[in-house]
Amino acid sequence: MCGIVGYVGTEPAGQIVYNGLENLDYRGYDSAGIALVERELTVAKQAGEVSELSVPNTPNATCGIGHTRWSTHGPPTDANAHPHTSQQGTVAVVHNGIIENHESLKGQLLKEGYAFASDTDTEVIPHLIERELDDGHDLLSAVERVVDLLEGSYAIAAVRAGSNRIVATRHESPLVIGHGDDAAFLASDVTAFLDHTRDVTYLEDGDVALLEPDSVAVYRNGEPVDHDIETVDWDADAAEKGGYEHYMRKEIHEQPTALRQTLSGRIDLDRGDVDLDVDFPQGYLESLEEIQLVSCGTSYYASQYAARLLEEIADVRASVEIASEYEFDGGRDPWRTLVIAVTQSGETADTLSAIRRAAGAGARTLAVTNTLGSSVTRETNDTLFIRAGPEIGVAATKTFASQVVTLALLSVAIGRERGTLSTANARTLLENLRTLPGAVQQVLDEEEHVLEAAREYQDSESFFFVGRRYGYPVALEGALKLKEISYDHAEGFAAGELKHGPLALVSEQTPVLAVLTAGSDGSETVNNLTEAQARGAPAIGTVSDGLETKSLDWTFEVPEADVFEPLVANVYFQLFAYHVANLKGRSIDKPRNLAKSVTVE
Ligand code: F6R
Repeated sequence: MCGIVGYVGTEPAGQIVYNGLENLDYRGYDSAGIALVERELTVAKQAGEVSELSVPNTPNATCGIGHTRWSTHGPPTDANAHPHTSQQGTVAVVHNGIIENHESLKGQLLKEGYAFASDTDTEVIPHLIERELDDGHDLLSAVERVVDLLEGSYAIAAVRAGSNRIVATRHESPLVIGHGDDAAFLASDVTAFLDHTRDVTYLEDGDVALLEPDSVAVYRNGEPVDHDIETVDWDADAAEKGGYEHYMRKEIHEQPTALRQTLSGRIDLDRGDVDLDVDFPQGYLESLEEIQLVSCGTSYYASQYAARLLEEIADVRASVEIASEYEFDGGRDPWRTLVIAVTQSGETADTLSAIRRAAGAGARTLAVTNTLGSSVTRETNDTLFIRAGPEIGVAATKTFASQVVTLALLSVAIGRERGTLSTANARTLLENLRTLPGAVQQVLDEEEHVLEAAREYQDSESFFFVGRRYGYPVALEGALKLKEISYDHAEGFAAGELKHGPLALVSEQTPVLAVLTAGSDGSETVNNLTEAQARGAPAIGTVSDGLETKSLDWTFEVPEADVFEPLVANVYFQLFAYHVANLKGRSIDKPRNLAKSVTVE
């Protein structure tokens, strides 16, 4: 979720690349850098925001690349900032995504005598390119040969000293070329260069592009490919939102990519285990007695989902507490209680204060967050990043999914370490997790259908959301999403509780939305839903295959994903909330009275 910019033309490149980075700094902002090409490369890079970066004074450089970073591998330091350069300093590279096999590539390069200056996965790429150049290949064929060695997701731009051209390639990470007069632009997002051109070519997976001032050529498998030149008619504000009207909708649609990032490089199907970047002390997880999750709002509902996963997958006692209500009760040996702060921003005052209480009493603490360098990462023993990328809409969407998936990975790690999860069961879980980006995409493809439902029910008096087991926190989250952005009254209930009270509120004016999937005892919840329907309530079900739902007023199909189906169903609830609010003309990205990061108790 970082930003890439490139320019090759006849004007001084430094300022153009810098302006492009400024236009992208909403994508990531923990470090930034630029490489400019003359006979030698000039590189300026550092931790911090783009505004803190000085453009090198190289007026004769008319080719350059730049990067603004949202860290995934390695903390935001000057050394880890992009561009990364090769051993002899002749190649500079910027990269978005993750090179999953970087450890083995690095091992090989170290044996060959290459030295590394950063902790990043990216740094292998300039070394590999330089190795090919030393073997007599030109930059284009060097990049083509290196791409064959890389596993993972990436968008890459490379430049070489003394050569006025950029070579770029992508796999599962966006890259777009802009066509100017005597100039070519490159970016991860058109926003970067809209001030210069609106004529663009979107690269596809496997494309390798050669950008020169007066030409752009694209190749795949060594053969030239023709791509249309499209004209972008968005204004800068819309472009920043990827053409969507609101960040929230953009972020809902980013979930497949966010989930891929969350999972990337962490699943090892052969071993039936996961590789997380957390090193618990030897024997700690085996001796663990209890896990307590503390969090607020959407993160609290993600924690509820996760607590059940931890109990079922890892067979460890897990409880959830709203952070502002939390009092540490760690039993006789507090160190054997792991307290996990689940917080997108890492700055929520209630959550920070809860974690301080736990740490003060002697518990071991772990942060699960989206935000590198945030306060929670400094106050806990360890941190696990959810890697969802920047979330700008106040209503949390993609971070909910990435939080649950990160904690599912942690459950597998703990279950394997404690010997409570078999290899076969771990593999099944991990395979299900791997299907999630695709399953979420299938739901997103049904958006029109959700919009129709939103049109039909937008004027209802109240909305109720119900679910069981993993469907229960999703019902609570569905109601929270709707109430915070549409300002309509919405409540989530455990489906079995309807008959114990809330049924009194049900009428023709109160649609009931239900999670009826695997992992949520869908067939039992159908009965609760029918009870509401018998009192006149419209019944809307998110349904997995095979469930008898003919009597429902509206059904949304959920692809198969076992205990993660409610998480996929949640995407329908997000879209429903978004469209109800949008039809009412609400301020979706900045709902009244709410803030993205709540830094007061
Ligand atoms: C709801 C929402 C809030 C946050 C809550 C915690 O859409 O965004 O409920 O989830 O304020 O924030 P973090 O996760 O940053 O601690």
